[in-house]
Amino acid sequence: MQYSAKVMDHFENPRNVGVLEDANAIGEVGNPRCGDIMKITMRINEETDVVEDINFQTFGCGAAIAVSSILTEMVKGKTLEDALKVGNTDVVSELDGLPAVKVHCSVLGEEGVAAAAKYYYERHPEKTPPASLAEKIARLAALDVHEEGS
Ligand code: FES
Repeated sequence: MQYSAKVMDHFENPRNVGVLEDANAIGEVGNPRCGDIMKITMRINEETDVVEDINFQTFGCGAAIAVSSILTEMVKGKTLEDALKVGNTDVVSELDGLPAVKVHCSVLGEEGVAAAAKYYYERHPEKTPPASLAEKIARLAALDVHEEGS
């Protein structure tokens, strides 16, 4: 199986690893097919909804670790609305590709950010979540990541 140099770099030197102590957005997701788990913690500026910091902890395959690592770099500094626009295909292209059998691993990152955003908005009922959040959660739930070869 061929991995790009970028995947290998993020796997061997993952960025933003750990759990943020002062997180106000927490998402924990799993891939039921392989049992891998990802926890995303973010600190969101409550005035501007900008992702000021983001960490991840992934118990999973190398592709999932590389995905989580590059995703944290892509999301940091964006508003939550823009962070939710980062999809798994953006992550895969930023990593210079993933082997086809590993593309399902890239969905985990997108799900983690969506779960953390959901957590944040549930605790801020005064804020209106972007419409893309509900759409993304529904789309991700409908994806069959369990299927062999997905
Ligand atoms: S094999 Fe489980 S996320 Fe990659």
